[in-house]
Amino acid sequence: MTVIVFPPFPYIIQGMSLIRVRDLSFRYDENTRSLEKISFDIEEGDYVTIVGRNGSGKSTLARLLVGLETPDEGTIEIDGKILSDDNLPEIRKRIGIVFQNPDNQFIGATVRDDIAFGLENRCFEPDVMKRKIEKYSRKVGLSQLLDKEPEALSGGQKQRVAIAGILAMHPDIIVFDEATSMLDPRGRETIKDIIDSLHQDRKLTIISITHDIEEVMNSDDCIVLYDGRVFDHGRPEKVFADADRVRSIGLDVSFIGKVKEAFRKYGIVLKSDTEDEMVGELWQYALRR
Ligand SMILES: Nc1ncnc2c1ncn2[C@@H]1O[C@H](COP(=O)(O)OP(=O)(O)OP(=O)(O)O)[C@@H](O)[C@H]1O
Ligand SMILES: [Mg+2]
Repeated sequence: MTVIVFPPFPYIIQGMSLIRVRDLSFRYDENTRSLEKISFDIEEGDYVTIVGRNGSGKSTLARLLVGLETPDEGTIEIDGKILSDDNLPEIRKRIGIVFQNPDNQFIGATVRDDIAFGLENRCFEPDVMKRKIEKYSRKVGLSQLLDKEPEALSGGQKQRVAIAGILAMHPDIIVFDEATSMLDPRGRETIKDIIDSLHQDRKLTIISITHDIEEVMNSDDCIVLYDGRVFDHGRPEKVFADADRVRSIGLDVSFIGKVKEAFRKYGIVLKSDTEDEMVGELWQYALRR
């Protein structure tokens, strides 16, 4: 399992975003342009979703954010430090990533060893380590599988191991690259609840690459990538308000967007951006008639 993580930030400079990305460009080879002049800020404690159709550059951005690729142009600044070869080991202790493909991420002979491996360089006492492994395995529903070989697990179970491994390391920032894509709906809900509660309790900063529109609508902020560029960035209810525009870049429309679209067919233009507002607006409309 390839996981990369960090201890709590010693300080946060007031008024400065935790993550600042400026004019980031990257290509794997001459023929493909994977990211083109990407810029955005992420504040400490935010839950940010990244969306975009297949090949839009989401995983590439994730790999750059954790220093697995080096930008061709532009910078990534984390807690005031521009990511470079010099500070990469230090920054890697603070940021964890769960990859899209759970295969080839495992090094341990058993699930337990694998989670332990990520914790080894953190100098925990053996019994503290054991408790952490058990706690996080239980959280993600893996307790029964701790002594299994990772290779003998299903895709969804592997994703759970990777998530448990990251959570046990207590990073300040976690990047999830479609980390629950192989889980069944119930498993996905469980993981979403765990992440939500960690986010609330610890002010964990979360960057989640997802195709799950419900998750997007629950996030603080959404970055839409299209063809390696930032197509939109803002509150999800704003980003997903215009159904035609969202569909034009190959994305699904939110529930609110679909409701608006349906009413528009009857000549009713709704202005609400949230479900609560929309309920109020529809009541007012009904009462006026
Ligand atoms: N290892 C690689 N070598 C060469 N080109 C690559 C490599 N990985 C990705 N690309 C190219 O970079 C672009 C962005 O790919 P990326 O995997 O970041 O997209 P994505 O948004 O994560 O897609 P998906 O939703 O399918 O996961 C695509 O054009 C892709 O073909
Ligand atoms: Mg991807």
